[in-house]
Order: sequence, then C-alpha cells, then structure tokens
Amino acid sequence: MTFRRIAIAGASGFLGRKIIEQLSLVVDITRLTILTRSKQPVKTSNNSILSFVSIVSYEDTEALANVLQGHDLLISTIAGAAAGMIDAILAEAAVMAGVRRFMPSEYTVDVLHPHSIAFAGSTILATKLANARKLQTLASEGKIEYTTLVTGAFLDFWLSKAVKGIVDLDSHTVMLYDGGEHQVTGCTTDFIAQCVRAVVTMPEDATRNSRIRIAEVQFSGKQLLGILEEVTGEQWTGVHKDTDALVTESLIALKGGDTRSFYVGQILKLGFDGEGSCYFEEGLTHGEDEVQRLSLNDIVRHSLATR
Ligand SMILES: NC(=O)c1ccc[n+]([C@@H]2O[C@H](COP(=O)([O-])OP(=O)(O)OC[C@H]3O[C@@H](n4cnc5c(N)ncnc54)[C@H](OP(=O)(O)O)[C@@H]3O)[C@@H](O)[C@H]2O)c1
Repeated sequence: MTFRRIAIAGASGFLGRKIIEQLSLVVDITRLTILTRSKQPVKTSNNSILSFVSIVSYEDTEALANVLQGHDLLISTIAGAAAGMIDAILAEAAVMAGVRRFMPSEYTVDVLHPHSIAFAGSTILATKLANARKLQTLASEGKIEYTTLVTGAFLDFWLSKAVKGIVDLDSHTVMLYDGGEHQVTGCTTDFIAQCVRAVVTMPEDATRNSRIRIAEVQFSGKQLLGILEEVTGEQWTGVHKDTDALVTESLIALKGGDTRSFYVGQILKLGFDGEGSCYFEEGLTHGEDEVQRLSLNDIVRHSLATR
C-alpha cells in the first residue's frame, strides 16, 4: 500500500463522512488531512491521524497547493453543485503540489458514456464531463494520476424521504420510467466508501488512471416496487413516465430558471432509459473481499427504518 498521506476535500458531507469512517480503519494511513470551509471537526471513532485545514477560498490555487504538499492522494467529495468548478482547481493545485493521485467528486452516471455526452447540458454534468476529460489529459501528460469511481445512483440518497424522483415514501409511489423494466445499477454510500478504502489499500497499479464502474445491486423499477411491497407489507403504486417527457419538462424548468430540476431530469433520463449510462458490471477487480455488499431488499429495509 502506498497511499499513506491522504487529503480529502468535502469530508463533512453525505458521502465524505462515510469515507472518513472507512479510511480511519486503515492502520497504514499516517496522515488524513481534511480540507473544509469550516473549523468544526468531523466526528470519527479514531481521529489520531486527522488534521483539519480551513480553506478560506477554493479559488486560491497556490494556497491549496501549499496545503496539499506532502500528500500522496487527494480525494474530493465536494457537493455536486460546486464540485465541477472546485475539482478543476483542486486538480491544478494537486499537480502544483506533486500529489500523485486524484480521486474526483464525480460519483454519478458514466459521464463519458456517449449517451451521457449527448445529454450533458446541465452545468453539473457538463463540468463533471469536462473534468473527466481534463484528468485524462493531465494523466497522459504524466502530471498526475487519477482514479474515478463511477457509481450510478446513491440508493440511500434516492430512497430517503427528502428526495423524490425514484420513489416517494409519503405517497407510496415508485416511478416506472419507460415501462419500468430496464435494469440499472446503484450503490449505497457505505459501499462506495468501502470501495474508496479498497482503492487506497490495493496495489496502486490496479487503479492507476482508471474509471472504475462499481455496482452494489441491479434492479428495475418494477423489481424495486415489488421489494417495497415485500418489505412494508403494503401496496405501492407504480407511476409510468416516459423519460423523453421528463427531458421536455426539465427543459421547461430550465427556462424558468430552475437549474436543479433540469439537472435531476437529465440524471433520471440517463439513469433509467436503458441506454447504458447507468448500468455497470462490477469493475472493482481487487479488494473485493474487503467490501460488503447489501442486497436491494436490505438496502430498502434499512432506508425505510432510518428515514
Ligand atoms: N449518484 C448519486 O445519486 C449522487 C447523490 C448525491 C450526491 N452525489 C455526488 O456525490 C458527491 C458528493 O455529494 P454529497 O451529497 O456527499 O455532498 P454534500 O454533502 O452536499 O457536500 C459535501 C461537502 O462539500 C463541501 N461544499 C459544499 N458546498 C460547497 C461550496 N460551494 N464550495 C466548497 N465546498 C462546498 C462541504 O464541505 P465543508 O463545509 O466541510 O467545506 C460539504 O460538506 C458529489 O459529486 C455529488 O454530485 C451523487
């Protein structure tokens, strides 16, 4: 294992917290530096290797490079709306600081899939796509290595009460896009965090300059509906929707200035239209025994219990 000195930006967030928990279990890590806009430490069971650096501005590349000096790996889990712009600066700062490897805050559909490229009109998707290409260029020039986890949907995010688009826990409805039979894949954030730990601990050659497509479970809308009924013992309703209609609605939302609905419409289209942007064969070829995989049944049960 060679990634012993790790910096992570955005660690106080939904995914970042889980990654810190996992990395805190790796005894060989000697330094875990958290870049945050806040001065409040993230709670973790073992914080002896943790240090916090308060970032005044993510636009100051030189200051970021100073913070990143002496690290082997930089992981970004910056929030989606900010990640595009900030990841580009972080990559530049990491190159300046001589950081060997960068893991960007991409964590979505495969943005380099031709079907995704055709739909990457929202700022979030377009910047993630631009950063993915930029990282490939930087790597080909020998300036930095990258490892990108291509995760598809975060199931614990989309199965939470606050987020609608796949299920609505209040009205007991499940969206059945384009007939509800296309297979998609997805992951929980616990699973993704374990995969990050596996990347850190496995031989670095195995993950160098790779976009690793990971999948914890696969399912269709109709299968998800069946599992929700099985787990709750109640009836759920499937709501049929055409993903082209979804795109039309999202474009109308954009005209009204609603960029979030535009992005969500694009993501759901790419996730559920069966064209392959969000269906991955598991690609983590090493470290598999370190990663615990839940069934969709367990993921649904756990999500409903903690909502
Ligand atoms: N595939 C999916 O279904 C799915 C679902 C959700 C998220 N994601 C992706 O996963 C990644 C992480 O998302 P998340 O939900 O874990 O993020 P999050 O919790 O919303 O935010 C993560 C951290 O980013 C930092 N941050 C937020 N806004 C910022 C800004 N304007 N400037 C600088 N830093 C900022 C904050 O850290 P500090 O306050 O400590 O600085 C925050 O705790 C993103 O790329 C997102 O698009 C994917």
